[in-house]
Amino acid sequence: MTARTARVVLGVAGGIAAYKAAEVLRGLKGAGCDVVVVPTSAALRFVGSATWEALSGHPVSADVWTDAQDVPHVRLGQQADLVLVAPATADLLARAAQGMADDLLTNVLLTAHGPVVMAPAMHTEMWQHPATQRNVALLRERGVLVLDPAVGRLTGADVGPGRLPEPDQIVAAVLDLLRRPPSDDLAGLRIVVSAGGTRESWDPVRYVGNRSSGRQGVELARTAVSRGATVTLVAAAMDVAPPAGVRVVDVESAAQLHDAMTEAAQAHDVVVMAAAVADFRPRAADVKVKKEGDAGVDLHLEQTVDVLADLVRRREGDRPVIVGFAAETASGRDHLVELGRAKLARKGCDLLVVNDVGDDAVFGQPTNEVVILDAEGGQADIPRGSKAQVADAVWDAVVRLVKA
Ligand code: CTP
Repeated sequence: MTARTARVVLGVAGGIAAYKAAEVLRGLKGAGCDVVVVPTSAALRFVGSATWEALSGHPVSADVWTDAQDVPHVRLGQQADLVLVAPATADLLARAAQGMADDLLTNVLLTAHGPVVMAPAMHTEMWQHPATQRNVALLRERGVLVLDPAVGRLTGADVGPGRLPEPDQIVAAVLDLLRRPPSDDLAGLRIVVSAGGTRESWDPVRYVGNRSSGRQGVELARTAVSRGATVTLVAAAMDVAPPAGVRVVDVESAAQLHDAMTEAAQAHDVVVMAAAVADFRPRAADVKVKKEGDAGVDLHLEQTVDVLADLVRRREGDRPVIVGFAAETASGRDHLVELGRAKLARKGCDLLVVNDVGDDAVFGQPTNEVVILDAEGGQADIPRGSKAQVADAVWDAVVRLVKA
């Protein structure tokens, strides 16, 4: 976040999801942002100005004529550090794409100096209509971060893509952009990130798993989207929701993750193996194993495929760029780097992000501290910070590698 209070304009377009914008507003205010709400007149039919004024602490208007002496249609856009529209309806996306200026919100969008984020919400047919898709493509070409809508229950009984992304995900995307200057240095890159921890069944009910939450992988995906990449997330049993704007492929076991990553590696420029993949799997029984007296059960564990090493082995030429993670328990920084170097040599990837996972310092925690090693002998020590900051440091290293 910037040192002074970040100023955000929250545009609210006229859709049923307008009520969820109140949650977004609370999230932004909770993170210390000063938020001015600019609804469209249609949005005010869903949620009235009193709500927005009370929650934001600022007067609200939808037209350019109120307080005209302050020239709000120019001032609001120019002064905002970021403009967010949530929900962005099909109509708002169309008007923004065409550069229309027929109400206060569209005026603000035309005078915005900072980044613009749109969180669409509409019926599936409207989202998938070629007109809307063309408008979204046009906005993205101009550098607007248009989040992909979530898939789920829509108004009525319909289910499909078109739901507003979860308010906390919208807030996270906004805070990411405010934290660092906007950059599209990953634009044009297709990136696949594996995240979470695999589960290996030993009968239809039980499994052997691990403690990875998926947080670091989710932050990698989220930050890559905000830096312009097209992102696929191969998600194994994550404790956290995937970020908005990524394609998600759900997997459970190491074998499924292996298949998904092998396929994805062919169509992506960068592969990041942030998932904690089981090294061993039990032989699975087809039926539930029953207790017999007080006897225990022996699980014979056999080794799984090393997905990272296999992706490196299959690669032809220098694409995709392959990034591995290393979970180590080291006695100190030098030992950590020594273990990391040995693992990097063993795996043969381009970059290795080394964590010390001892003392509960990583799994499920919001922060992390890593060393990024490259195959040429380079090393970057990333001090303890949020997992989003660590993710950005990984992308900085990827950008250096891709440019080289
Ligand atoms: N990895 C993988 N397939 C496995 C095990 C690990 O692709 N079967 C990947 C992880 O996603 C990570 C990297 O390999 O990017 C290193 O994982 P880590 O658990 O640190 O090391 P291991 O390979 O399991 O080696 P060891 O347990 O001996 O430290």
